[in-house]
This record gives sequence, C-alpha cells and structure tokens, in this order.
Amino acid sequence: MLTVALPKGRIAQETLEIFETIFGDSFKFDDRKLILETPNFRFLLVRNQDVATYVYHQAADIGVVGLDTLEEQGLDVIRLLDLKRGICKVAIGMRNGEKLDLDKPELKVATKMVNITKRYFEERAVSVDIIKLYGSIELAPLIGLADMIVDVVETGATMKQNGLEVVQDIMTSSTYLIANKNSYIAKKDKILDIYEKINEIIKAEQK
Ligand code: PRP
Repeated sequence: MLTVALPKGRIAQETLEIFETIFGDSFKFDDRKLILETPNFRFLLVRNQDVATYVYHQAADIGVVGLDTLEEQGLDVIRLLDLKRGICKVAIGMRNGEKLDLDKPELKVATKMVNITKRYFEERAVSVDIIKLYGSIELAPLIGLADMIVDVVETGATMKQNGLEVVQDIMTSSTYLIANKNSYIAKKDKILDIYEKINEIIKAEQK
C-alpha cells in the first residue's frame, strides 16, 4: 500500500487521471471526502502547501507538488520525477514601464514566497525589505505597499490586468512527484514501479 498526497484542485485531478490510465480503473474522490482508498493506494487530498509536509513526516509515502513550493519550503524529500504539468514561473513584477534598479536603497518586495525572494536578493547582495502577503500579491505595487512583487506567473493575465509586467524571471516551476526518504527505502519496489509507469506516460506525452 502506498499513501499518495495530492494537492486539491487541477493537479489532483490530472494525477488521478494518470493513475486511471495506468491501472485502467476509476480513481475518484466522493464529494467532500479527503481520503480515497483503493486496493493498492490511499490518496489524500491536501492543500498544495501541505503536500511536502505530509510526505516529509511520512504521513504519505509519495506526493505531487510544484517545484516552486518545494523550493520555498525546503523540506528534505526526494524529487523523483518532473511531471511536466503545472508549468509556471516565479518572477519579479513591477508596474508597467518601471525598471528594476537593484541599486535603489530600501527596495520593498511583496510576496508569498519569502524564502525564494530572500535567496534571490541575497545571492545578488541586495538588501531588500520583504513584505509577506498571503494572496492578491499584484495589489501591493498598485497602492504603494511595495516597489515590486515576486509571484507565480502562469498565463500572465493577473499581472497584465493589474498593470504589472514581468521584469525578471527567477525560476521555472512544474509539478514534481516526490517521495519520503524512508519510504523510498522501505517501499522501494512499489515506489519505483509507480515511478516507472508514470514516467512512461510523461515520456509518451513529450513525443
Ligand atoms: C497565482 C499567483 C497569481 C496568479 C498568476 O495565484 O499568485 O495571482 O496565480 O496566474 P496567471 O499568470 O495565470 O494570471 P494562485 O491562483 O496560484 O492562487 P494563490 O494566491 O491562492 O496561491
């Protein structure tokens, strides 16, 4: 039995579809249920930001989560496979026409990704004031809370509709299959088996 942590929403849906393709079975959560039991898997529906936590503490053996979230949280889990889904960027955004000037003193950066932001500016020896927000990040530069934002950009529509533009990419993200380190040893055969099956599907899609 493998326990699989999935992030509520589209990624969970897409991952269950991969399992359906592999096993020719139906994998569907009932209405508001958060656990789905099948003969070989137990699926857990968790918040995106909690997937790596479940896996790190071995409440789940494997999980599916975005690389941006993994980089932000820094939990020690095994990154098994890039699922080539949920592709997005983490980028710096500013109001249209504004230029990124790292020499400007006391730059204020609003973000929900504090660690990625900190690392980016530290690596460039730029001291910034990071303002942690939990959502609607694009609002911050519009009302003068921050000079810029570091945020996830997928289609770019949110920035565009709020008069912001990307001035610098920080990283590209996509969804990863991750594993708990102990589970990877204790349940190696099962984990490698599902890894290989998923990998075949991803590879076929890339052709
Ligand atoms: C992200 C991000 C942007 C938006 C970007 O939020 O914070 O607001 O998506 O997408 P776009 O480039 O396609 O417009 P998300 O929807 O992940 O919600 P969250 O703030 O709850 O994490």
